[in-house]
Amino acid sequence: MALPPPQCGDTVQPTPQPFRGTMHDIVIQVLGVAGLLALVSFLPPLAARFQVPYTVLLAGVGVALGAVIQTFAGPGKDPLHDFLNSLAELDISSDVLLHVFLPILLFETALAVDVRRLFEDLGPILLMAVVAVFVCTFAVGYAVNLFTPLPLVACLLLGAIVASTDPAAVIGIFRDLGAPRRLTTLVEGESLLNDAAAIALFTLLLEMLTRTSHGGAAAAAVDFLRDFSGGVVTGYVCGRIVCMLVEPVRNQPMAEITLTVALAYLSYVLADHYVGASGVVATVTSALVIGSVGRTRISPATWGAMEHVWQQLGFWANSMIFLLTAILVPRLMADAGWAEVGLVIVVVLAAFAARAVVLFGLLPVLSWAGLAQKVSNSYKSVMLWGGMRGAVSLTLALAVTENFRVPDKLQSFIAVMVTGFVFVTLFVNGTTLRWLIRLLKLDELTPVERAMRNRALALSTDSIRDRVSAVAQTYEVDGAVKDVMIARYEERLKKIDRDSQEEAKLTDEDRVTIGLVILVNREEELYYAHFSEGVVSRAVMEMLAGRSGRLLDAVKSQGRNGYRAFEEPFIAFSPWMRTASWLQRRFGIHGPLARRLSMRFEVLVAVRTVLRELLAFTRDRLARVLGQEVAFVLEGMLVGRLGIVEQALSALKLQYPDYAVVLQSRYVGRAALRLEHAEYRAMHAESIISQEVLTDLERDLEQRRRVLERLPKLDVRFDVAELVRRVPLFAELPAERVATIATLLRAQLALPGETIVRRGDRGDAMFFIASGAVEVLVPMLAEPVKLGTGDFFGEMALLSRQRRNADVRALGYCQLLVLDEKDFRRLVQKDADLQSHIQAVAEARRQPTQSSPAVPAVS
Ligand code: CMP
Repeated sequence: MALPPPQCGDTVQPTPQPFRGTMHDIVIQVLGVAGLLALVSFLPPLAARFQVPYTVLLAGVGVALGAVIQTFAGPGKDPLHDFLNSLAELDISSDVLLHVFLPILLFETALAVDVRRLFEDLGPILLMAVVAVFVCTFAVGYAVNLFTPLPLVACLLLGAIVASTDPAAVIGIFRDLGAPRRLTTLVEGESLLNDAAAIALFTLLLEMLTRTSHGGAAAAAVDFLRDFSGGVVTGYVCGRIVCMLVEPVRNQPMAEITLTVALAYLSYVLADHYVGASGVVATVTSALVIGSVGRTRISPATWGAMEHVWQQLGFWANSMIFLLTAILVPRLMADAGWAEVGLVIVVVLAAFAARAVVLFGLLPVLSWAGLAQKVSNSYKSVMLWGGMRGAVSLTLALAVTENFRVPDKLQSFIAVMVTGFVFVTLFVNGTTLRWLIRLLKLDELTPVERAMRNRALALSTDSIRDRVSAVAQTYEVDGAVKDVMIARYEERLKKIDRDSQEEAKLTDEDRVTIGLVILVNREEELYYAHFSEGVVSRAVMEMLAGRSGRLLDAVKSQGRNGYRAFEEPFIAFSPWMRTASWLQRRFGIHGPLARRLSMRFEVLVAVRTVLRELLAFTRDRLARVLGQEVAFVLEGMLVGRLGIVEQALSALKLQYPDYAVVLQSRYVGRAALRLEHAEYRAMHAESIISQEVLTDLERDLEQRRRVLERLPKLDVRFDVAELVRRVPLFAELPAERVATIATLLRAQLALPGETIVRRGDRGDAMFFIASGAVEVLVPMLAEPVKLGTGDFFGEMALLSRQRRNADVRALGYCQLLVLDEKDFRRLVQKDADLQSHIQAVAEARRQPTQSSPAVPAVS
């Protein structure tokens, strides 16, 4: 970390022994920082004890420390004086805060955000993060401009500085009170992205203020957009690159975590210094990429450790930014008088009025236009009151005071205004927000949640009461003591029973929906669990986990119908699959189809396994919480899904029996590796094997795991000669004729449900079914006509030179042999027998009620 050059007014003591002097300075600086860390470690428990948000306490302690420094720093050789002096002389430049601490803070916050939920509420979040920043900047700017002789740009700069909200205090309170998840996401998402917007705007306005000429509002808007989008692109690219780089260092927690720390800084510096875009936006974007895509790239064992490391880093960064800036407050506020107090009130009123306009004026318009989900009035009130400011505003103010191009008077004006404003929001809003949330009853559980809570409590109390007796027996506890304990649990159970009377209000349909929500969440967890155990591959995991959000929405909005209507993955063929199939049909390119089919295999096996686990879960656990009848309904729905999956899977197995075996053995292989690993760990825990032996065994396991990770190749190519022999029409022909016919035929795979021939199209080929079945949808017939292995279709259009007279659709996987029109003509010309057979069949099919007759073999 390069320390910034000495600032004007810093006192650098000349020392006769430069080396000793420098050493001493560094030691004293270390003392300062370490002392602050020691101080900080006492604050979270204090904040919890007095029920104040941590940042509010931090700010208070920082100001107090600043006052102590002003009064007591000075001559003295004891550690306490050295500590105070070191803080007085510490070079806290805004550059250090912006480039060293801020990327960490932002990365950590963004990493904790649930990206899927963020996207669900992207409308309101973007409105609050971008539009609200502009509205606040202008409202504060013009209001201050009214009361002061300062230029408008300077006032707007102040507006931009106070526009970014700080989630730390609010989220802490939400967590304490158990506020709804959606509210947390809205606040977190807003504050993340608005830091980016406000800093980009700040940079622009500062440039406009310090340059003599500037390009005006239009140029500024273009700059802003370029900064923002450049940051998003840089962050995204960096994030994706790190996701790729994580692969070779997989299962090495130290290396993986270090990569993410490097990413936070590299994306920032790359965007800021080399691309000329917003570093903050880049860091936030890269963290969002890691939080979403990276979740399946970083090894599951590392993920938890990484979250802890980042929480720790974030805590240090937040504490340091707050303390280091708050320490300066007494000095900055020294010149403040009543006029400044009045102006701070103007800033507060303007900023909150701007926020209220956006929340209560623009947000409903957005919802009305269908661009955002509705946000309730109580949520909006909490968002308005929770718009506290913090670390980012203080840092930006500090940056202004260090900019020598900004006139001194303006520097101190901005410092006083920003600090005043931040402290008003922290001490007024921060200490009353808890009360507001309680008033609006946002900390209370919904009837549904309360019902679930009671059920869960009843269940656990019941089983604990039983276990108490067993424990009492083991420890030979006195009978009376045991009875008292059990009586307590009985009493609790009775109380829960009384509370649960309310549950009667819940209809069965409500309960089914509750059950489905639990099942959807559990399903996603199970996929993650199978992935962490190495059983499910990453590609499959990504595709399955992505669906849960949509399924949850469907259930929440349409209950069980929404769940039923949701398609099983891969049951309907995706456009990718169709393209792959088309590539094979048209150009004989097999690769993409083979990959898609093998993926489908894996997905179906994974879904089947999870569905079976869900069935057991419903029977064993949900039935007890939600009641037998509801569990029965849920089981029925799961069984329905299982049936669809089994059907799709058996169709595939029928087509590729060998591949199914390979895949199954891969599953078993992976599960066996997991068991082996658990066994080694247990042996290590019991000191049977040493760490060295364990590491060696793990290395071997890792190698074998890598082999199993590779998806085996699926062969979708056909042996045409072999297929020709399956068609009775050719079956008894001499070998050399079969060989000639085989050269004219082309093999093709049709997917279940695929329309092979479409009514009204021009006929350019006919088809022989080598395996599988199709249905012919003849307009005149009520029922479709089924054709199976050995049958052919598509001959009528070729014979009559008219358009296709029916749709032909594959019922399962079908191996077809295609005979192009010109080859057809050549073949029937040479072979009169063949021609008359085909003609006879076509003739029979032309009869209005005639379905396909058996096709005799050609001799
Ligand atoms: P074509 O008209 O080329 O395309 C649609 C095909 O459906 C047609 O050739 C026949 O092969 C097939 N088809 C039409 N009607 C019947 C039927 N009644 N029974 C069986 N197959 C039929």
